[in-house]
Amino acid sequence: KINSVEFAVADLSLATAGRHQMRLAEHEMPGLMAIRREFAPSQPLRGARVAGSLHMTIQTAVLIETLVALGAQVRWVSCNIFSTQDEAAAAVVVGPDGTVDQPSGTPVFAWKGETLEEYWWCTMQLFDFGDGQGPNMIVDDGGDATLLVHKGFEYEKTGSVPLPDEGDHVEYKLILQTLAASLATDDQRFTRIVGGMRGVTEETTNGVARLYRLARGGELLFPAINVNDSVTKSKFDNKYGIRHSLADGLNRATDVMLGGKLAVVCGYGDVGKGAAESLRGQGARVVVTEIDPICALQAAMEGLQVVELDDVVSSGDIFITTTGGTDIIMAEHMARMKHNAIVGNVGHFDLEIDMAGLAQTPGIERVEIKPQVHEWRFPDGHSIIVLSEGRLMNLGNATGHPSFVMSNSFTNQAMAQIELFTKPGEYAKDVYVLPKHLDEKVARLHLDALGVRLTTLSKKQAEYLSVDVAGPYKADHYRY
Ligand code: NAI
Repeated sequence: KINSVEFAVADLSLATAGRHQMRLAEHEMPGLMAIRREFAPSQPLRGARVAGSLHMTIQTAVLIETLVALGAQVRWVSCNIFSTQDEAAAAVVVGPDGTVDQPSGTPVFAWKGETLEEYWWCTMQLFDFGDGQGPNMIVDDGGDATLLVHKGFEYEKTGSVPLPDEGDHVEYKLILQTLAASLATDDQRFTRIVGGMRGVTEETTNGVARLYRLARGGELLFPAINVNDSVTKSKFDNKYGIRHSLADGLNRATDVMLGGKLAVVCGYGDVGKGAAESLRGQGARVVVTEIDPICALQAAMEGLQVVELDDVVSSGDIFITTTGGTDIIMAEHMARMKHNAIVGNVGHFDLEIDMAGLAQTPGIERVEIKPQVHEWRFPDGHSIIVLSEGRLMNLGNATGHPSFVMSNSFTNQAMAQIELFTKPGEYAKDVYVLPKHLDEKVARLHLDALGVRLTTLSKKQAEYLSVDVAGPYKADHYRY
């Protein structure tokens, strides 16, 4: 803590570099900056204590300062051990008006290359705003902050916590240890937090899936807005964001020529579609694996061959998992890959590539090429290259999605925070999406920057289509 700003970041002296990048990012984030202009005067988030667990990048730094501009008190951590941009974390702590010696910004607990123990320690720092107060809002990406509150609450009620559905993942043991340590000093912390919590706004597909699971089981403890399924989020960030950041990650990690290579994309949902386009754009020959006949047919109609992993495991040069599922590329697959095949994941959790099985392969050797790039040498002499230890490689090996697309996602986030915070009691303990007129508003805020000239419906045309001249223009079931 310096000058009453608490923090744990890699190096505060990176703040100037971070601030320069934030200035450029602000120019590329017209939606988020418009939200600042529209809402800063009325301070809708005054009294909000926002706990944020979302990749601590430059774009997130702009989101954090937007929430602060709207009146919120904020504490922030990353939702992934490799995704923090240390200059962004430093800039947020120092703040727009502070200095390295006199920081006056927002508490951040995040650095690139945390251990899992450090990760959960950081996440615990979200829950103490001083004077015995916890957060009353959460911004989540993947649901780890929400998970901790739910597990903490359960622990306080029952004195124990069963492991979550995802199985025996080592991280959950750490969660339990973290909780046990916290509860030893304050055994009603999470009960108080849940009592005052107005809601969570969730960024990603996997986190949203967790929320719906809790809601279905009647276990969700506060309202949630599913930001991911705003059209201006999942059909843009997941797709066009990954189209940019996948190739970026591959290039920064390996510098390998992508043109002409056989690239295998596992999963052809929103992220898979962007991944395939990214690789195709570089001239790779792209094939896809899918379990859903609709997505498989979509891939086929795009001219992509749909295969089983076994068909291409020994001929593929690059393997990218995008499923949000588990056990996609197993150790026995990697044992059969070509020499120096590249294996990376852009799904949220590190369950898609069997890293544990790989490490347990008899006689295997791990060589660090550089941080987040590892060669795994099999006893038969062939190697594979694994990126970011099986975690999100577009954030671990590069800097994630570019500002413009994140402006769409984060404008939804800011509006969802305002919605839940300013309307306590109007939302039940369930999962909601933002209304379509707000989705259309997010898109509208990004048109001028691209020189888009939108056609205006005439009254007659609007009547014919049974829509309002001012929108919304589509029914909720429309799929874009
Ligand atoms: P999605 O549900 O649209 O797509 C996943 C696809 O994988 C589905 O079409 C599904 O049928 C398919 N799939 C599931 N199991 C499979 C298997 N065993 N083999 C082949 N295909 C399989 O989800 P979305 O939005 O594309 O997200 C995917 C993952 O990426 C999630 O974990 C999400 O949280 C994450 N994500 C990551 C981002 C990043 O920056 N790296 C950005 C946005 C989302």
